[in-house]
Amino acid sequence: MTIFDLDVERISPALVNVASVPQRSPFRYPGGKTWLIPTVRQWLKQEGQEVSFLVEPFAGGGIVSLTAAFEKLAEHITMVEMDEEVAAVWEVILNGKNKWLADKIFSFDLTLDNIKSELDNPDKQIHDKAFCTILKNRIFHGGILAKGSGMIKNGENGKGIASRWYPKTLHDRILAISFVKGKIDFIAGNAFEIMERNLTNPKAYFFIDPPYTVAGKRLYTHFNIDHEQLFSLASRLKGKFMLTYDDTNEIRQLADKYQLQYKTIPMKTTHHTKKNEIIISDNFAWWVES
Ligand SMILES: C[S@@+](CC[C@H](N)C(=O)[O-])C[C@H]1O[C@@H](n2cnc3c(N)ncnc32)[C@H](O)[C@@H]1O
Repeated sequence: MTIFDLDVERISPALVNVASVPQRSPFRYPGGKTWLIPTVRQWLKQEGQEVSFLVEPFAGGGIVSLTAAFEKLAEHITMVEMDEEVAAVWEVILNGKNKWLADKIFSFDLTLDNIKSELDNPDKQIHDKAFCTILKNRIFHGGILAKGSGMIKNGENGKGIASRWYPKTLHDRILAISFVKGKIDFIAGNAFEIMERNLTNPKAYFFIDPPYTVAGKRLYTHFNIDHEQLFSLASRLKGKFMLTYDDTNEIRQLADKYQLQYKTIPMKTTHHTKKNEIIISDNFAWWVES
């Protein structure tokens, strides 16, 4: 682990040491769940054997899928993401020119002129799109790709746009994923459809991390989902699931309406304020009180 690995993830659980979670994703994902990984590990280990099928319907930075693949917590994994820019990254890393992408990042000279010419290229192929997504994710405020986001000005220690650009670390993470990509399918599509398709599979584990009701709009291009429909779907899954949300009255009411159990878990935001998130699950036999 490098110092960068510790630095990238500033959101941490109030009670868990994030250093125990290897950073495997090339993204610094807004609303990313690296901080929840210790809890996700407990959830995936609930039957005392490797999970046969894990679905991550709102994959984003994909830290749960990657961790499950590397740590042999799941044999087969399906990641789903609707955002075209984010999807391009996963397509290229898992099924495309991953070495090209890793090398392009490693050798890129991060100047404003070079950034502009990459982003303004009108004729992008999928690997160019993937590169531009990683570039934006690293040089835009908070890694936010949604409209209205813009480049970091001062950044950490006055390093500006370079303050989150770690070419060697990103190169290595992308190539490392090759070792587990045989276990992972990526679908550029709609979470609801894939969940519906696997509704009656008793062996499936669903890690569901949708855009939240309050912050979603600012953070993601695709934020507008039907939260009630998601609760309804979750309540009908025959497999196991873990659904995460912000702790609001609306979400507690939906959980009650669909008779779903939940727990709260404390975390620290990027601004170092503490808040609670909600974990909803089909059962909590796996939950360890901290
Ligand atoms: C909270 S983020 C997931 C973060 C992820 N768990 C991580 O740790 O990086 C929610 C993601 O869902 C995606 N999304 C929104 N609506 C979707 C849909 N209907 N189907 C698939 N993905 C969707 C957004 O683009 C966003 O990447």
